[in-house]
Amino acid sequence: MRPLPILLTAMILTGEDFAEAQQSKANYDESLAGSYTLPGLLTRADGSVVKTAEDWQKHRRPEILALYQQHVYGRVPEGLGAPAFSVKSVKTDALGGKATRKLIQITLPSCPAWEGMELMLYTPNGLNRPAPCFAGLSFGGNHAVSTETDVPLSTRWMRPSKEKHIVDNRATEASRGNESSRWPLEMILSRGFAVATAYYGDIEPDHAEGWKDGLRGLTSPAGAATRWKEGEWGAISAWAWGLSRILDYLENDRDVDAKHCAVIGHSRLGKTSLWAGAQDERFAFTISNNSGEGGAALMRRNFGETTAVITRAFPHWFTATYKNYAGNEAACPVDQHFLVALAAPRPIHIGSAVEDQWADPKGEFLSGYHASPVYELFGKLGTGVSEQPAIDTAVGHSIGYHVRTGGHDVKDYDWEQYMTFAEKHWR
Ligand code: GCU
Repeated sequence: MRPLPILLTAMILTGEDFAEAQQSKANYDESLAGSYTLPGLLTRADGSVVKTAEDWQKHRRPEILALYQQHVYGRVPEGLGAPAFSVKSVKTDALGGKATRKLIQITLPSCPAWEGMELMLYTPNGLNRPAPCFAGLSFGGNHAVSTETDVPLSTRWMRPSKEKHIVDNRATEASRGNESSRWPLEMILSRGFAVATAYYGDIEPDHAEGWKDGLRGLTSPAGAATRWKEGEWGAISAWAWGLSRILDYLENDRDVDAKHCAVIGHSRLGKTSLWAGAQDERFAFTISNNSGEGGAALMRRNFGETTAVITRAFPHWFTATYKNYAGNEAACPVDQHFLVALAAPRPIHIGSAVEDQWADPKGEFLSGYHASPVYELFGKLGTGVSEQPAIDTAVGHSIGYHVRTGGHDVKDYDWEQYMTFAEKHWR
Protein backbone atom coordinates (compact mmCIF):
# COMPACT_ATOMS: atom_id res chain seq x y z
CA MET A 1 0.00 0.00 0.00
CA ARG A 2 1.27 3.49 -0.81
CA PRO A 3 2.01 5.44 2.39
CA LEU A 4 -0.64 8.03 3.19
CA PRO A 5 0.44 11.67 3.04
CA ILE A 6 1.53 12.84 6.50
CA LEU A 7 -1.32 15.31 6.97
CA LEU A 8 -3.94 12.73 6.08
CA THR A 9 -2.39 10.19 8.46
CA ALA A 10 -2.49 12.72 11.29
CA MET A 11 -6.16 13.34 10.57
CA ILE A 12 -7.15 9.69 10.58
CA LEU A 13 -5.12 8.24 13.45
CA THR A 14 -6.54 8.21 16.96
CA GLY A 15 -5.99 6.00 19.98
CA GLU A 16 -3.00 3.71 20.31
CA ASP A 17 -1.76 4.33 16.77
CA PHE A 18 -1.79 8.08 17.13
CA ALA A 19 -0.06 7.89 20.53
CA GLU A 20 2.58 5.58 19.09
CA ALA A 21 3.16 7.83 16.11
CA GLN A 22 3.78 10.73 18.50
CA GLN A 23 6.28 8.91 20.69
CA SER A 24 9.32 9.48 18.52
CA LYS A 25 8.45 13.17 18.08
CA ALA A 26 8.08 14.00 21.78
CA ASN A 27 10.60 16.07 23.71
CA TYR A 28 13.09 13.96 25.66
CA ASP A 29 15.64 16.70 26.24
CA GLU A 30 15.67 17.78 29.88
CA SER A 31 16.97 21.24 28.91
CA LEU A 32 13.79 21.75 26.85
CA ALA A 33 11.35 20.53 29.51
CA GLY A 34 10.56 24.18 30.18
CA SER A 35 10.22 26.27 33.26
CA TYR A 36 6.84 26.31 34.88
CA THR A 37 5.09 27.54 37.99
CA LEU A 38 3.04 24.95 39.79
CA PRO A 39 -0.35 25.96 41.19
CA GLY A 40 -0.46 26.40 44.97
CA LEU A 41 -1.23 23.07 46.55
CA LEU A 42 -1.88 24.60 49.95
CA THR A 43 -3.64 27.79 48.81
CA ARG A 44 -7.38 27.59 49.28
CA ALA A 45 -9.83 29.10 46.80
CA ASP A 46 -10.37 32.03 49.19
CA GLY A 47 -6.61 32.75 49.10
CA SER A 48 -5.84 31.57 52.62
CA VAL A 49 -2.96 29.15 53.15
CA VAL A 50 -3.57 25.73 54.69
CA LYS A 51 -1.46 25.28 57.80
CA THR A 52 -3.00 22.28 59.54
CA ALA A 53 -3.96 18.73 58.66
CA GLU A 54 -7.49 19.50 59.76
CA ASP A 55 -7.74 22.47 57.40
CA TRP A 56 -6.41 20.29 54.58
CA GLN A 57 -8.87 17.52 55.28
CA LYS A 58 -11.92 19.72 55.83
CA HIS A 59 -11.39 22.38 53.18
CA ARG A 60 -8.55 21.97 50.70
CA ARG A 61 -8.99 18.25 50.02
CA PRO A 62 -12.67 18.60 48.99
CA GLU A 63 -11.78 21.66 46.87
CA ILE A 64 -9.12 19.72 45.00
CA LEU A 65 -11.37 16.69 44.51
CA ALA A 66 -13.97 18.99 42.96
CA LEU A 67 -11.32 20.52 40.68
CA TYR A 68 -10.32 17.06 39.43
CA GLN A 69 -13.94 16.22 38.80
CA GLN A 70 -14.58 19.39 36.87
CA HIS A 71 -11.32 19.66 34.93
CA VAL A 72 -9.69 16.25 34.58
CA TYR A 73 -11.60 13.01 35.18
CA GLY A 74 -15.24 14.01 35.69
CA ARG A 75 -17.67 13.04 38.42
CA VAL A 76 -19.60 9.84 38.86
CA PRO A 77 -23.35 10.50 38.58
CA GLU A 78 -25.35 10.32 41.76
CA GLY A 79 -27.82 7.56 42.40
CA LEU A 80 -25.93 4.52 41.10
CA GLY A 81 -26.51 2.97 44.49
CA ALA A 82 -24.90 -0.03 46.11
CA PRO A 83 -23.68 -3.06 44.15
CA ALA A 84 -24.84 -6.65 44.59
CA PHE A 85 -22.50 -9.63 44.86
CA SER A 86 -22.90 -13.20 43.80
CA VAL A 87 -20.15 -15.73 44.49
CA LYS A 88 -20.01 -17.94 41.38
CA SER A 89 -17.30 -20.38 42.37
CA VAL A 90 -14.85 -21.19 45.15
CA LYS A 91 -11.77 -23.31 44.52
CA THR A 92 -9.96 -24.12 47.75
CA ASP A 93 -6.96 -25.79 46.14
CA ALA A 94 -6.01 -23.10 43.64
CA LEU A 95 -2.40 -22.59 42.56
CA GLY A 96 -1.43 -26.09 43.60
CA GLY A 97 -3.12 -25.78 46.99
CA LYS A 98 -1.44 -22.52 48.00
CA ALA A 99 -4.55 -20.41 47.59
CA THR A 100 -8.31 -20.18 47.51
CA ARG A 101 -9.76 -18.66 44.37
CA LYS A 102 -13.20 -17.10 44.30
CA LEU A 103 -15.04 -15.70 41.31
CA ILE A 104 -17.65 -13.13 42.23
CA GLN A 105 -20.05 -11.30 39.93
CA ILE A 106 -20.53 -7.67 40.95
CA THR A 107 -23.68 -6.11 39.52
CA LEU A 108 -25.64 -2.94 40.01
CA PRO A 109 -29.33 -3.34 40.90
CA SER A 110 -30.01 0.25 39.74
CA CYS A 111 -28.76 -0.66 36.24
CA PRO A 112 -29.75 -4.22 35.27
CA ALA A 113 -28.64 -3.60 31.68
CA TRP A 114 -25.02 -3.62 32.85
CA GLU A 115 -23.74 -7.20 32.92
CA GLY A 116 -21.46 -6.34 35.79
CA MET A 117 -17.88 -7.28 36.44
CA GLU A 118 -16.30 -10.57 37.34
CA LEU A 119 -14.00 -10.24 40.33
CA MET A 120 -11.29 -12.86 40.76
CA LEU A 121 -9.99 -13.09 44.32
CA TYR A 122 -7.02 -15.19 45.41
CA THR A 123 -6.40 -15.51 49.16
CA PRO A 124 -3.45 -17.38 50.66
CA ASN A 125 -4.28 -20.70 52.33
CA GLY A 126 -3.15 -21.39 55.89
CA LEU A 127 -2.73 -17.78 56.93
CA ASN A 128 -5.11 -18.00 59.92
CA ARG A 129 -5.98 -14.33 59.67
CA PRO A 130 -7.62 -12.11 57.04
CA ALA A 131 -5.09 -11.25 54.33
CA PRO A 132 -4.07 -7.71 53.38
CA CYS A 133 -4.85 -7.27 49.73
CA PHE A 134 -3.78 -5.74 46.42
CA ALA A 135 -6.73 -4.76 44.22
CA GLY A 136 -6.36 -3.70 40.61
CA LEU A 137 -7.91 -3.90 37.17
CA SER A 138 -6.32 -5.83 34.33
CA PHE A 139 -5.95 -5.13 30.62
CA GLY A 140 -6.72 -8.66 29.49
CA GLY A 141 -9.25 -10.20 31.88
CA ASN A 142 -8.99 -12.79 34.64
CA HIS A 143 -7.99 -15.59 32.26
CA ALA A 144 -5.03 -13.44 31.19
CA VAL A 145 -3.91 -12.69 34.76
CA SER A 146 -4.07 -16.32 35.89
CA THR A 147 -2.43 -19.32 34.27
CA GLU A 148 -5.11 -21.63 35.73
CA THR A 149 -6.98 -23.01 32.75
CA ASP A 150 -10.31 -23.32 34.56
CA VAL A 151 -10.71 -19.54 34.82
CA PRO A 152 -13.52 -18.68 32.39
CA LEU A 153 -12.41 -16.88 29.26
CA SER A 154 -13.74 -13.34 29.15
CA THR A 155 -16.35 -12.88 26.43
CA ARG A 156 -16.10 -9.09 26.49
CA TRP A 157 -14.72 -6.70 23.87
CA MET A 158 -10.91 -6.51 23.86
CA ARG A 159 -8.51 -4.20 22.08
CA PRO A 160 -7.08 -5.78 18.94
CA SER A 161 -3.75 -7.54 19.54
CA LYS A 162 -2.13 -10.25 17.46
CA GLU A 163 0.44 -10.87 20.12
CA LYS A 164 -2.27 -11.49 22.74
CA HIS A 165 -4.29 -13.66 20.36
CA ILE A 166 -7.31 -11.41 20.35
CA VAL A 167 -9.44 -12.32 17.34
CA ASP A 168 -12.34 -10.10 16.24
CA ASN A 169 -12.01 -8.18 19.49
CA ARG A 170 -12.50 -11.31 21.56
CA ALA A 171 -10.09 -13.37 23.68
CA THR A 172 -9.24 -16.87 22.53
CA GLU A 173 -7.85 -19.92 24.37
CA ALA A 174 -4.39 -18.79 23.31
CA SER A 175 -4.89 -15.54 25.23
CA ARG A 176 -4.71 -17.34 28.58
CA GLY A 177 -1.99 -16.16 30.89
CA ASN A 178 -0.85 -13.34 28.61
CA GLU A 179 -0.77 -10.87 31.49
CA SER A 180 0.53 -13.30 34.12
CA SER A 181 4.05 -11.87 34.19
CA ARG A 182 2.52 -8.61 35.45
CA TRP A 183 0.62 -10.45 38.20
CA PRO A 184 3.12 -12.82 39.89
CA LEU A 185 0.38 -14.46 41.92
CA GLU A 186 2.46 -17.10 43.69
CA MET A 187 5.08 -14.57 44.73
CA ILE A 188 2.44 -12.20 46.14
CA LEU A 189 0.39 -14.91 47.85
CA SER A 190 3.46 -16.51 49.40
CA ARG A 191 4.10 -13.22 51.19
CA GLY A 192 0.66 -13.39 52.76
CA PHE A 193 -1.20 -10.97 50.50
CA ALA A 194 -4.47 -11.52 48.67
CA VAL A 195 -5.00 -10.38 45.07
CA ALA A 196 -8.33 -9.04 43.80
CA THR A 197 -8.71 -8.23 40.13
CA ALA A 198 -11.23 -7.70 37.35
CA TYR A 199 -11.14 -6.81 33.65
CA TYR A 200 -11.39 -3.05 33.06
CA GLY A 201 -13.44 -3.68 29.91
CA ASP A 202 -16.20 -5.18 32.07
CA ILE A 203 -16.83 -1.59 33.17
CA GLU A 204 -16.18 0.11 29.86
CA PRO A 205 -14.55 -1.10 26.64
CA ASP A 206 -11.44 1.02 26.07
CA HIS A 207 -12.11 2.91 22.86
CA ALA A 208 -13.65 6.26 22.02
CA GLU A 209 -17.16 4.83 21.56
CA GLY A 210 -16.79 2.19 24.27
CA TRP A 211 -19.01 4.10 26.67
CA LYS A 212 -22.04 3.16 24.57
CA ASP A 213 -21.67 -0.46 25.68
CA GLY A 214 -20.28 0.33 29.11
CA LEU A 215 -21.57 1.53 32.42
CA ARG A 216 -21.41 5.21 31.40
CA GLY A 217 -23.76 4.77 28.47
CA LEU A 218 -26.06 2.35 30.24
CA THR A 219 -26.57 4.68 33.19
CA SER A 220 -26.76 7.97 31.31
CA PRO A 221 -30.17 9.62 31.14
CA ALA A 222 -32.23 8.89 28.05
CA GLY A 223 -30.09 5.93 27.10
CA ALA A 224 -27.05 7.64 25.65
CA ALA A 225 -25.39 11.00 25.80
CA THR A 226 -24.47 12.22 22.34
CA ARG A 227 -21.86 14.52 23.76
CA TRP A 228 -20.31 14.31 27.17
CA LYS A 229 -20.31 17.65 28.95
CA GLU A 230 -17.55 19.29 30.95
CA GLY A 231 -17.47 17.76 34.43
CA GLU A 232 -19.24 14.55 33.38
CA TRP A 233 -17.30 11.34 33.88
CA GLY A 234 -14.80 9.85 31.49
CA ALA A 235 -13.67 6.21 31.37
CA ILE A 236 -10.97 6.64 34.03
CA SER A 237 -13.67 7.74 36.49
CA ALA A 238 -15.81 4.77 35.53
CA TRP A 239 -12.92 2.34 35.98
CA ALA A 240 -12.04 3.97 39.33
CA TRP A 241 -15.67 3.56 40.38
CA GLY A 242 -15.28 -0.15 39.63
CA LEU A 243 -12.25 -0.38 41.93
CA SER A 244 -14.31 1.02 44.79
CA ARG A 245 -17.02 -1.57 44.14
CA ILE A 246 -14.36 -4.28 44.38
CA LEU A 247 -13.45 -2.87 47.77
CA ASP A 248 -17.16 -2.94 48.73
CA TYR A 249 -17.06 -6.67 48.12
CA LEU A 250 -13.76 -7.19 49.94
CA GLU A 251 -15.22 -5.53 53.04
CA ASN A 252 -17.68 -8.40 53.11
CA ASP A 253 -15.20 -11.23 52.68
CA ARG A 254 -13.84 -12.67 55.91
CA ASP A 255 -10.67 -13.92 54.23
CA VAL A 256 -9.61 -10.36 53.42
CA ASP A 257 -8.39 -7.60 55.70
CA ALA A 258 -10.10 -4.79 53.79
CA LYS A 259 -8.64 -2.18 56.13
CA HIS A 260 -5.31 -3.02 54.53
CA CYS A 261 -6.17 -2.97 50.86
CA ALA A 262 -3.85 -1.35 48.31
CA VAL A 263 -5.12 -0.13 44.96
CA ILE A 264 -2.69 -0.81 42.13
CA GLY A 265 -2.61 -0.11 38.41
CA HIS A 266 -0.25 0.11 35.47
CA SER A 267 -0.15 2.84 32.85
CA ARG A 268 -3.72 4.01 32.01
CA LEU A 269 -4.81 1.82 34.89
CA GLY A 270 -2.17 3.53 37.04
CA LYS A 271 -3.90 6.83 36.29
CA THR A 272 -7.06 5.00 37.35
CA SER A 273 -5.63 3.66 40.63
CA LEU A 274 -4.37 7.14 41.54
CA TRP A 275 -7.84 8.57 40.99
CA ALA A 276 -9.51 5.69 42.86
CA GLY A 277 -7.14 6.05 45.82
CA ALA A 278 -7.60 9.81 45.80
CA GLN A 279 -11.38 9.60 46.07
CA ASP A 280 -11.88 6.52 48.21
CA GLU A 281 -10.10 6.88 51.53
CA ARG A 282 -10.84 3.26 52.39
CA PHE A 283 -7.91 2.30 50.15
CA ALA A 284 -5.06 2.13 52.63
CA PHE A 285 -2.27 2.39 50.05
CA THR A 286 -2.18 3.73 46.48
CA ILE A 287 0.21 2.45 43.81
CA SER A 288 1.00 4.08 40.49
CA ASN A 289 3.03 1.92 38.11
CA ASN A 290 4.31 3.84 35.07
CA SER A 291 1.16 5.99 35.05
CA GLY A 292 2.71 8.91 33.14
CA GLU A 293 0.70 11.74 31.61
CA GLY A 294 -2.70 12.17 33.23
CA GLY A 295 -1.30 10.05 36.09
CA ALA A 296 1.66 10.82 38.30
CA ALA A 297 3.67 12.88 35.76
CA LEU A 298 3.53 16.66 36.15
CA MET A 299 1.48 18.02 33.24
CA ARG A 300 3.32 21.36 33.07
CA ARG A 301 6.64 19.68 32.25
CA ASN A 302 7.10 19.33 28.52
CA PHE A 303 8.65 15.87 28.51
CA GLY A 304 7.33 12.73 26.85
CA GLU A 305 3.57 12.59 26.34
CA THR A 306 1.68 15.88 26.41
CA THR A 307 -1.87 16.93 27.27
CA ALA A 308 -2.41 17.65 23.57
CA VAL A 309 -1.50 14.09 22.56
CA ILE A 310 -3.34 12.27 25.32
CA THR A 311 -6.60 14.19 24.92
CA ARG A 312 -6.49 13.66 21.17
CA ALA A 313 -5.55 9.97 21.28
CA PHE A 314 -7.73 8.97 24.24
CA PRO A 315 -10.48 11.61 24.58
CA HIS A 316 -12.78 9.11 26.32
CA TRP A 317 -10.49 8.72 29.34
CA PHE A 318 -11.14 12.24 30.64
CA THR A 319 -13.91 14.73 31.17
CA ALA A 320 -14.48 17.10 28.24
CA THR A 321 -12.85 20.04 30.06
CA TYR A 322 -9.40 18.47 30.07
CA LYS A 323 -8.73 19.00 26.36
CA ASN A 324 -8.95 22.78 26.93
CA TYR A 325 -5.53 22.52 28.58
CA ALA A 326 -3.78 21.05 25.55
CA GLY A 327 -0.85 23.41 24.97
CA ASN A 328 -2.35 25.57 27.71
CA GLU A 329 -1.33 23.62 30.79
CA ALA A 330 -0.62 26.75 32.82
CA ALA A 331 -4.38 27.50 32.84
CA CYS A 332 -5.26 24.21 34.53
CA PRO A 333 -6.10 24.76 38.21
CA VAL A 334 -4.36 21.51 39.20
CA ASP A 335 -1.13 19.72 38.43
CA GLN A 336 -0.54 16.08 39.21
CA HIS A 337 1.17 16.55 42.57
CA PHE A 338 -2.35 17.53 43.71
CA LEU A 339 -3.51 14.03 42.80
CA VAL A 340 -0.68 12.41 44.75
CA ALA A 341 -1.44 14.67 47.71
CA LEU A 342 -5.05 13.46 47.79
CA ALA A 343 -3.69 10.13 49.07
CA ALA A 344 -2.40 11.83 52.23
CA PRO A 345 -1.87 10.81 54.95
CA ARG A 346 -2.07 7.24 53.56
CA PRO A 347 1.04 5.74 51.95
CA ILE A 348 1.50 5.97 48.20
CA HIS A 349 4.21 4.55 45.96
CA ILE A 350 5.14 5.73 42.48
CA GLY A 351 7.03 3.30 40.23
CA SER A 352 8.78 4.47 37.05
CA ALA A 353 10.91 2.65 34.46
CA VAL A 354 14.00 4.23 33.01
CA GLU A 355 13.25 3.35 29.39
CA ASP A 356 9.66 4.55 29.76
CA GLN A 357 10.55 8.13 28.85
CA TRP A 358 7.10 8.61 27.27
CA ALA A 359 5.74 8.53 30.86
CA ASP A 360 8.36 11.07 32.07
CA PRO A 361 9.93 9.26 35.07
CA LYS A 362 11.38 12.49 36.45
CA GLY A 363 7.98 14.19 36.22
CA GLU A 364 6.51 11.21 38.10
CA PHE A 365 9.10 11.64 40.85
CA LEU A 366 8.52 15.40 41.03
CA SER A 367 4.81 15.07 41.64
CA GLY A 368 5.67 12.92 44.68
CA TYR A 369 8.25 15.41 45.82
CA HIS A 370 5.87 18.39 45.43
CA ALA A 371 3.05 16.53 47.23
CA SER A 372 5.27 16.05 50.29
CA PRO A 373 4.23 19.28 52.12
CA VAL A 374 0.75 17.82 52.60
CA TYR A 375 2.20 14.78 54.36
CA GLU A 376 4.22 17.13 56.54
CA LEU A 377 0.95 18.69 57.77
CA PHE A 378 0.20 15.23 59.17
CA GLY A 379 3.62 15.00 60.83
CA LYS A 380 4.86 12.57 58.17
CA LEU A 381 7.62 12.72 55.60
CA GLY A 382 6.81 12.41 51.90
CA THR A 383 9.61 11.42 49.52
CA GLY A 384 12.21 12.58 52.04
CA VAL A 385 14.58 13.40 49.16
CA SER A 386 14.47 16.20 46.60
CA GLU A 387 16.38 14.46 43.79
CA GLN A 388 15.19 11.54 41.71
CA PRO A 389 17.14 8.52 43.05
CA ALA A 390 19.51 6.28 41.10
CA ILE A 391 18.07 3.44 39.03
CA ASP A 392 16.80 0.46 41.06
CA THR A 393 17.06 2.31 44.37
CA ALA A 394 13.74 2.84 46.15
CA VAL A 395 13.37 5.91 48.36
CA GLY A 396 10.66 7.56 50.38
CA HIS A 397 8.78 7.61 53.64
CA SER A 398 5.02 7.94 53.14
CA ILE A 399 5.56 8.66 49.43
CA GLY A 400 7.70 5.90 47.96
CA TYR A 401 9.44 6.14 44.61
CA HIS A 402 11.65 3.99 42.41
CA VAL A 403 12.82 3.99 38.83
CA ARG A 404 13.49 0.49 37.58
CA THR A 405 15.79 -0.79 34.85
CA GLY A 406 13.85 -1.54 31.66
CA GLY A 407 10.72 -0.38 29.90
CA HIS A 408 7.00 0.21 30.28
CA ASP A 409 5.79 -2.86 32.18
CA VAL A 410 5.11 -4.36 35.60
CA LYS A 411 7.99 -6.52 36.77
CA ASP A 412 8.66 -8.63 39.85
CA TYR A 413 11.04 -5.85 40.92
CA ASP A 414 8.08 -3.42 41.05
CA TRP A 415 5.97 -5.84 43.11
CA GLU A 416 8.92 -6.36 45.42
CA GLN A 417 8.99 -2.60 46.14
CA TYR A 418 5.21 -2.38 46.62
CA MET A 419 5.06 -5.37 48.97
CA THR A 420 8.03 -4.16 51.02
CA PHE A 421 6.44 -0.72 51.27
CA ALA A 422 3.12 -2.25 52.37
CA GLU A 423 4.84 -4.40 55.00
CA LYS A 424 6.74 -1.38 56.31
CA HIS A 425 3.56 0.67 56.72
CA TRP A 426 1.23 -2.08 57.85
CA ARG A 427 3.52 -3.77 60.35
C1 GCU B 1 -0.37 5.08 25.70
C2 GCU B 1 -0.75 6.40 26.32
C3 GCU B 1 -0.31 6.47 27.79
C4 GCU B 1 -0.80 5.25 28.55
C5 GCU B 1 -0.37 3.99 27.82
C6 GCU B 1 -0.93 2.71 28.42
O1 GCU B 1 1.02 5.00 25.57
O2 GCU B 1 -0.19 7.42 25.57
O3 GCU B 1 -0.82 7.63 28.40
O4 GCU B 1 -0.34 5.28 29.87
O5 GCU B 1 -0.83 4.03 26.50
O6 GCU B 1 -1.94 2.72 29.11
O7 GCU B 1 -0.39 1.66 28.10
